[in-house]
Amino acid sequence: MGVLSPHRIQLSLFPIVVVLLSLTLSASAANSGHNTFLHCLVNHSEPFHPITPAIFTPNNTSFSSVLEAYIRNLRFNTSTTRKPFLIISALHVSHIQASIICAQNHNLQMKIRSGGHDYEGVSYVSEVPFFILDMFNLRSIKVEIDTETAWVQAGATLGEVYYRIAEKSKTHAFPAGVCHTVGVGGHISGGGYGNMMRKYGLSVDNVIDAQMVDAQGRLLDRKSMGEDLFWAITGGGGASFGVILAYKIKLVRVPETVTVFKVGRTLEQNATDIVYNWQHVAPTIDSDLFIRVILNVVNGTQNGTKTVRARFIALFLGDSKSLVSLLSDKFPQLGLKQSDCIETSWLRSVLFWDNIDIASSLDILLERQPRSLSYMKRKSDYVKKPISKEGFEMIWKKMIELEDTLFLFNPYGGRMAEIPSTASPFPHRAGNLWKIQYQANWNKPGVADHYINLTRNLHKFMTPFVSKNPREAFYNYKDLDLGINHNGKNSYAEGRVYGLEYFKDNFDRLVQIKTKVDPHNFFRNEQSIPTLPYRMG
Ligand SMILES: Cc1cc2nc3c(=O)[nH]c(=O)nc-3n(C[C@H](O)[C@H](O)[C@H](O)COP(=O)(O)OP(=O)(O)OC[C@H]3O[C@@H](n4cnc5c(N)ncnc54)[C@H](O)[C@@H]3O)c2cc1C
Ligand SMILES: *[C@@H]1O[C@H](CO)[C@@H](O)[C@H](O)[C@H]1NC(C)=O
Ligand SMILES: *[C@@H]1O[C@H](CO)[C@@H](O)[C@H](O)[C@H]1NC(C)=O
Ligand SMILES: *[C@@H]1O[C@H](CO)[C@@H](O)[C@H](O)[C@H]1NC(C)=O
Ligand SMILES: *[C@@H]1O[C@H](CO)[C@@H](O)[C@H](O)[C@H]1NC(C)=O
Ligand SMILES: *[C@@H]1O[C@H](CO)[C@@H](O)[C@H](O)[C@H]1NC(C)=O
Ligand SMILES: *[C@@H]1O[C@H](CO)[C@@H](O)[C@H](O)[C@H]1NC(C)=O
Ligand SMILES: *[C@@H]1O[C@H](CO)[C@@H](O)[C@H](O)[C@H]1NC(C)=O
Ligand SMILES: *[C@@H]1O[C@H](CO)[C@@H](O)[C@H](O)[C@H]1NC(C)=O
Repeated sequence: MGVLSPHRIQLSLFPIVVVLLSLTLSASAANSGHNTFLHCLVNHSEPFHPITPAIFTPNNTSFSSVLEAYIRNLRFNTSTTRKPFLIISALHVSHIQASIICAQNHNLQMKIRSGGHDYEGVSYVSEVPFFILDMFNLRSIKVEIDTETAWVQAGATLGEVYYRIAEKSKTHAFPAGVCHTVGVGGHISGGGYGNMMRKYGLSVDNVIDAQMVDAQGRLLDRKSMGEDLFWAITGGGGASFGVILAYKIKLVRVPETVTVFKVGRTLEQNATDIVYNWQHVAPTIDSDLFIRVILNVVNGTQNGTKTVRARFIALFLGDSKSLVSLLSDKFPQLGLKQSDCIETSWLRSVLFWDNIDIASSLDILLERQPRSLSYMKRKSDYVKKPISKEGFEMIWKKMIELEDTLFLFNPYGGRMAEIPSTASPFPHRAGNLWKIQYQANWNKPGVADHYINLTRNLHKFMTPFVSKNPREAFYNYKDLDLGINHNGKNSYAEGRVYGLEYFKDNFDRLVQIKTKVDPHNFFRNEQSIPTLPYRMG
């Protein structure tokens, strides 16, 4: 199951009559308006790679389990959520090509899903009838330590990528997300950040080649797609431009031993003072160190009272002795002790950050199903000016009033501030101290409005403390509150609203590239890059 070479697979989309297969399909999709679409798929698949085993219609007994296998937000697992009329779980690049060609012939909405972690379910939910091109079968990973690179297919998970790298080398890794079930396809194409961001930048800052199928069904690599399109799919989101088959990534070096810690402080334990100092230290300290803060509301020591707890979670690319001495110098307010620190391998630090017992079997990283799922809503913001202690006190008060919301503060600086804001579509570089993620998580159906409302209230409350003109947001933290594209005649105007928040000045270049490579806007979704409004000629 090697990564496919673009030179090996030339265009082979001429029709092939596969009488037996079409008979099977017409039986299972009898009377369906999508019958001719199925015929087209069969016609366009290669004789040695039949597409029928990849096709699931709602009649197929495993349809629901295939659909649910990569739903990662229970908000979109309800009986009223619109279901696709078909799922194509591509087994071969020709299935991707056939899906694209036939969907255009029949003017159908296609959704592309890799790991299914889209916060708004954009990869498997739609307001209009649609089908899913599911990438989970295309997940090979080829690591080459000699060249410090790897080819990773879109359907692989981050856990699989980390595991396969560590299998070959204890001193190599890749800077990407913290949750091991996240998919390569959506994560990397949307930017991708993790706890080595201050040292090595984003995932897209470490991508050197890609394989993508475009609107004409061509399998392209970096050379054949050109630098503009390659730039677009390293942070601008894949789903606006084509189907990403694989990325070639540059591995980064890590020490054999790294250090992690997690310490909590409530307001009664000086959390305000510590968080206030954190915002001055975390974005400027040695880039080997990444300290995230998670803030939530917990019971106070007095019965019936509430307080805010700040948990500081860190990865240090070095040993614990150096870390303790670094922090006692630069961040004494935290009061970090040697006994708070755990020295481990980089791969085990992934378990730690994913809230898994660090002594567990590393094979957990190969599990594709998360251990638990919940209903969730996420939003994001960027902080460019330090917040005063009084400001934090107001924020804590609001958090306690709303109660069921969480904040994640992720420090920037280091490598992130060195990379120009035009190097990739991701624009939030120098000048950003930290990024806020807003979270609401709940465990029962029917109460989504309440929790979504909480995150909106908190987001609104934060306006004076965060970036403005535009108010910036992180594309991988998909948030449909920023605007929805109906892909009709107002598509450009609609797209510009969320587009500027996600991509700032890079939005215009994304639109130009989009207009060139997909002028008919086949690759569209609720927050895709629109084409230019007026096309002459
Ligand atoms: C639990 C959890 C933890 C997370 N942690 C992090 C984190 O640490 N860092 C971070 O940066 N982000 C994080 N995210 C956000 C995550 O990076 C994005 O949701 C990402 O888009 C998920 O990729 P996916 O392939 O799993 O998702 P999908 O839902 O499959 O896809 C997301 C988007 O990408 C498109 N897409 C997917 N595959 C392809 C493809 N092959 N070609 C073209 N388009 C494609 C989809 O159509 C959709 O628009 C997290 C999300 C969750 C749910
Ligand atoms: C498939 O389902 C459709 C309606 O959903 C039905 O009309 C058709 O008869 C079914 N086909 C088979 C083979 O069960
Ligand atoms: C499939 O191919 C056959 C033979 O080339 C052609 O007659 C038929 O119209 C095609 N059907 C579809 C749905 O494309
Ligand atoms: C469902 O799809 C699988 C895989 O394509 C196939 O093996 C099976 O026969 C199908 N079942 C039905 C009921 O169509
Ligand atoms: C998703 O919904 C289906 C159908 O109601 C249900 O059987 C399944 O358990 C749900 N999945 C999860 C993880 O709750
Ligand atoms: C909080 O800070 C004060 C003053 O800096 C200090 O005296 C006190 O010990 C701290 N409390 C805790 C719990 O760290
Ligand atoms: C808090 O409540 C518990 C149980 O309800 C009780 O045992 C305890 O004495 C109370 N503590 C205070 C400080 O009121
Ligand atoms: C917090 O306090 C409430 C009562 O005030 C109690 O019901 C709840 O169990 C407590 N939560 C935790 C995590 O201790
Ligand atoms: C949402 O929040 C607003 C403002 O706080 C409030 O007025 C409204 O009642 C809330 N709605 C729901 C459904 O919780």
